[in-house]
Amino acid sequence: MKVHHTIESLQSDLLTIKKAGKTTAFVPTMGNLHQGHLDLVKKGLSLADSVIVSIYVNPLQFGANEDLSTYPRTLDDDLFALKELGAAHVFVPTDEIMYPEGKEVHSKVSVPKLGDRHCGASRPQFFGGITTIVAKLFNIVQADISIFGEKDFQQLAVIRKMVEDLCISTKVVGIPIVREDDGLAMSSRNNYLSSDERMIAPTLHQTLLAMKEKILEGVEYEKAETDAIDALNNKGFVVDYLNVCNSKSLEPATSSDKELVILAAAMLGKTRLIDNIELSLK
Ligand code: PAJ
Repeated sequence: MKVHHTIESLQSDLLTIKKAGKTTAFVPTMGNLHQGHLDLVKKGLSLADSVIVSIYVNPLQFGANEDLSTYPRTLDDDLFALKELGAAHVFVPTDEIMYPEGKEVHSKVSVPKLGDRHCGASRPQFFGGITTIVAKLFNIVQADISIFGEKDFQQLAVIRKMVEDLCISTKVVGIPIVREDDGLAMSSRNNYLSSDERMIAPTLHQTLLAMKEKILEGVEYEKAETDAIDALNNKGFVVDYLNVCNSKSLEPATSSDKELVILAAAMLGKTRLIDNIELSLK
């Protein structure tokens, strides 16, 4: 496995792979890798000859009062896990490489509407930061396939839209949420939870599961949402959003929608947790 710190070094090796007629899969990450990330790499290994992983904590997607400086950085452990798994190339750029003249004057990519609700409403800089860095990484790597987790459901939808709108020639593949045994969706931010909060955290997933059952039984969306928010508040969460949505547009679901997703984000102490669950009314 080769670790690259410059775009030139990575692209020179990628050219050799392309010339040999081999296929590539790309997995962008912010590091502090857990099983969720590693499943993306495994998927890549099953779909392409070589897997390229990027590890970069992208400052452009963090708000002024968010956790950019404290975001867990565990590069040595990450590289060890990726080597074990069989990733071929890891790209670990610095801010100077990605935003040479500063992030403020860097060109931006944005996906209107789809990124405005949910996470985009409470974190206005978030999706613009993601689409800008992911578009840049896509252009650098030019992989046949790019793999993302459904844990970040809205992120995946925004990236699919960007790829379609801008005719980016990579095939976007999503993989299901990887969870801890108690149902908590794996996340680098779970490290922030105190031991008491860690015990409460799986309630988010349990609440979404219960909500799904209620909706399948015919309970109205608004009632299901209010009950779920009350249940989470009672456990000590502060709900940012919890919405039954059309799984494609991510707009609030209407009675004619059949493919739905429940999207949720909630603070537990200082930790922001997100989760989602899909359901089909067919
Ligand atoms: P990061 O949070 O490191 O996540 C990298 C990828 O891993 C994303 O596609 C995310 O959806 C996926 N992932 C994280 N936890 C997962 C889980 N429990 N199950 C399945 N997949 C999971 O998402 C980002 O980084 C950044 O926004 C990035 C796309 C790299 C742009 O900076």
